[in-house]
Order: sequence, then C-alpha cells, then structure tokens
Amino acid sequence: MAPHAEDPKPDSGVDLIHHDGKTVYGDWRDQFHKTGTAVIKGVISPERAEYYKQKQIEWLQSFNRGFDPNDESTWTQEHLPVSFKGGMYFAYSSTHEKFVWEARTEPKILEVFSKLWGTDELLCSFDGMNITLPRQKDLTWSPWPHCDQSPQRKGMQCVQGLLNYQPNGPNDGGLILMHGSSKLFDEFFREQREQDDHEDKPPEEEDFRDLFIFKEEDVKWFEDRGCKLEKLNLEPGDFVLWDSRTMHYACFPQGDRIRHVQYICMTPRKFAKQEDVDLKASLFNNWQGTTHWPHCNIRKQGPVERDGKPDPQNRTEPYEKPIVTDRILQLAGVKAY
Ligand SMILES: [Fe+2]
Repeated sequence: MAPHAEDPKPDSGVDLIHHDGKTVYGDWRDQFHKTGTAVIKGVISPERAEYYKQKQIEWLQSFNRGFDPNDESTWTQEHLPVSFKGGMYFAYSSTHEKFVWEARTEPKILEVFSKLWGTDELLCSFDGMNITLPRQKDLTWSPWPHCDQSPQRKGMQCVQGLLNYQPNGPNDGGLILMHGSSKLFDEFFREQREQDDHEDKPPEEEDFRDLFIFKEEDVKWFEDRGCKLEKLNLEPGDFVLWDSRTMHYACFPQGDRIRHVQYICMTPRKFAKQEDVDLKASLFNNWQGTTHWPHCNIRKQGPVERDGKPDPQNRTEPYEKPIVTDRILQLAGVKAY
C-alpha cells in the first residue's frame, strides 16, 4: 500500500480508507471495497461462539427475573432486562462485561480491523449485543431500514461489525444488508430527504445525528439503481463488516433459535479529537456505553428506564468485570499508543 502523503481528515468528505478502485488484496477487502459490505468466515471457532452465547444467556439470567432459555413462557419483558428493538442491550454496563471485551480482543477480530485500516492503533466502540427471542409475545417489532451515518457526513467515515454466535437459517433472525447502498449515499442525499416517521425514530431532542431511517420508497430507490437487499445466513464465528452508510436492519427470528450477536467497531485513534478520546476514557472508567462510532459521535447516555421510571436493577458496573489489559486501555482511549 502506498503511504499517504497526509492522513485523510474525518468529516472532510473524503473516504477515510483510500481505495483506488484497482488494488486487489485477494481477501475480503476486495468485496468490501466493491460493495461496502463483507462477510468473513470463521474469525472465531464454533466453540468460542458457543462460549459467548452461553455468557449472553447467563448475563440475561443474572437479573434474576425468571428468564429461562428453555421455557418460552418466560420470553417476555417482565423476565428480561430492558433492551432496545427487542434485543439490543446497551445499558447496565453490559458493554463492558468481561465476555464482551474478550470478544473485542479476539486475535482475528483485531486483525480484521488492523488490515482494514492499515494500523494497529485503533479505538473500539463500547457497543451493544443483540439477544433476540423468537416469537416474543409482548413485542411490537417492525422493520427499520436505516443507516448509522448522518446525511451531513460525507464519504466513508466508519465501518461497523457484527460477530455472529448462532447458526442462522432462513427462519432465523439475522442481519439484512443493502449491498452497494453506501456507494450511492451522496447521490441519495443530494436531494432533500425526510426520515421515515417510524415508531423507533428517536425524539428530536436526543439529537441522533448518525441515524437515518429510510422510507419504503427509499428502499426502492436503491433497488432501482442495482443494489440488493440480502438477509445473511451466517454460521457461528462469522463476522460481518459494513460501511456505516449502508442501509441495514435486522430480520426478526421466526424459527426456534435465539439470535445471538455482538456488535464490534474499530477505527484508527488518529481520527479522534483529543476531547473525544478524553470523553471516551471517562465513559470507560465509569463503565458506560457508546454508539457504534469508536472515534467520534461519543455521547453519554442516561440511566436505563423501565415503564418510564429509572430501573431499580440498573447497574453501574459490569456483572463480571473484564481483566483490564494495556491493549484494552488503548482500545478504550485510556492509554496512549
Ligand atoms: Fe444500525
């Protein structure tokens, strides 16, 4: 790879990974640069995936609300900690659980992001996990095709990842990606676009800058230009990467299998402003989560609420604290490279 004369600047409209459209790597990066999406098979073993799956179940059970993975009658909100979109867990310091940091620091996960960005000096998001129960009775769920980059941010500014722990067949939950949509992001937003008035649209005052929910007609707009919506059927241990401009959402599980995934994103430390690194470090020191974005868009979240009131089961530290290594401190922005 030819060294850059100068590093690209975040939010200057330039892609943060330069690709000339010709370079061939002979690995998943070729697919990624072509469509903005890539599936990387077997980054962890099926045994490791099974371990993480069990840890997620144990974590749900640690709230002692009677959740039993083998008894479907307990698959209701009453028996579970509070989640977003029926299974995304960001609260309760869950983003710093020991098993979550173990997943982030799996050697091949670190290798994927190092290869992608061409540097080991990375920051990691304090991102959530997704545990979705099929047929959960007290859940209203609707598809929400969206992207996690604001229309105001141009160019490739972030790459998201998902580590899969459970086999997904056609009836199971899984990630749906609009392949190639990231390449049309600028063209799409050249016109004035309104977000869909979706039930999950966050209130204006929360200022979710890096979220745009698409309307049905927008899905068609991308399809008319050759993009393809695909639900991924993955094996345990597979990892998916997508440019944050990519339209995506989850398929709700209809079969018998619980969906188990961990979101993991890393971007180079050099793209972060010092104030954002400092904020990130303070969130780490207080066991708080972030958005998918590792180097910016870092916001403190309020305590979790159940039925409109602060959840008495809120946690200010993980159930099982991670073994904090220097590598973790670097990824968290606490320790300098
Ligand atoms: Fe998303």
